[in-house]
Amino acid sequence: MTFDVAAVRREFPILSEIIDDRPIHYLDNGASAQTPLAVLDAVRRYETTSRANVLRGVHRLAERATELYEGARADVARFLGVQPMEIVFTGGCTAAINLVAHSYGQLLKRGDRVLISELEHHSNIVPWQMLRLRSGIELDALPVTPDGRIDLAALPKLITPETRLISLVHVSNVTGALLDVRKVVEAARTVGAKVMLDGAQRAPHGPLDLPSLGVDFYVLAGHKCYGPNGIGALWARSELLEAMPPFMGGGSMIARVTLAETTFAPPPRRFEAGTPPIGPAIGLGAACRWMAGLDWSAAHDHQMGLVQRVLDGLQDIEGARILGPASLQNRYPVVSFVLDGVHPHDVAQTLDSFGVAVRAGHHCAQPLMDRFDLDGTTRASMAPYNDTGDIDALLTGVRHAANTLR
Ligand SMILES: Cc1ncc(COP(=O)(O)O)c(C=O)c1O
Repeated sequence: MTFDVAAVRREFPILSEIIDDRPIHYLDNGASAQTPLAVLDAVRRYETTSRANVLRGVHRLAERATELYEGARADVARFLGVQPMEIVFTGGCTAAINLVAHSYGQLLKRGDRVLISELEHHSNIVPWQMLRLRSGIELDALPVTPDGRIDLAALPKLITPETRLISLVHVSNVTGALLDVRKVVEAARTVGAKVMLDGAQRAPHGPLDLPSLGVDFYVLAGHKCYGPNGIGALWARSELLEAMPPFMGGGSMIARVTLAETTFAPPPRRFEAGTPPIGPAIGLGAACRWMAGLDWSAAHDHQMGLVQRVLDGLQDIEGARILGPASLQNRYPVVSFVLDGVHPHDVAQTLDSFGVAVRAGHHCAQPLMDRFDLDGTTRASMAPYNDTGDIDALLTGVRHAANTLR
């Protein structure tokens, strides 16, 4: 089935903006994706017809707001194939991983081990290092293969009877590599370890069925899923949420407070202290509904066609090298490359003059940059609304950078 990219583009008003006489070729979706009218409308509707705090008021606006907020939780749950009460709204992926590191982390003791990889975003490294300082856990890291995948051949060596949690990126924000989740889950089960996936770059590419993946925790960020900023979600199996102590204390997360002690509300409220980001949560729910309505098989083929166009185009540019899988197998539409002799920031600046928005730098993955002895890369990351015009503008810009900056 063909994919009607023009129709999708029409849902994203920002894509027809002209800035400094140049159109926008937005290839920085891995940082933050753009937002469709359906999401903007849902947030506006809440703000103009139902704005109130949630879970506390008895008046009609508060009831409406609570209904929308809990409806959004159900939308996120449906998108992930799980139960609404297993979804905790957070500030984003970083906040969700920190929540797990603090709450689940309290269940870990000195000598327990957490396994991550060299491919992780800093948000899946630093919280574990901080937990190591707080409670004396040990941190291990899987290496990365030359083509930018987590090297799962090292699993038997790095999983030990003390490994309690394996926390890995589902799709790399640098190389686009897709994790072989089944292998990880199988290995984890041999020692009874839990598995958490950082879904920041996978969730924007279509619905998931988390129970069949066999993992225990999953995190995603609203702003990468065509939703608002400042919102994200943590999914965890209900028995894990039940066992986890709260991370932040305050209003809304309690059962009963006396000056002597507090008892806590059941999950997910136990983990949502204070007034949550209500409008953004409603926007994320709308984004999940929007994503669920897309033909992802066609959208994926469309995007992978764009990746192939980038890979082919870069091959013809002298000095351009890909960091990541060279084929389309088990990869998502994120392409990182270096242009020998040219700093990635200069490549990105040249691209901006061609109207092309990309990300350049270490992508919050400094251990990965160290692994490949790089300061950084230039990264093009795609969404269903990107088209061949975007890719051709990218390649024209890279060619220009190669010809003028070296
Ligand atoms: C793989 C990955 N994990 C985590 C994050 C952090 O997400 P956020 O900044 O929304 O907390 C990002 C953002 O770039 C990411 O790409």
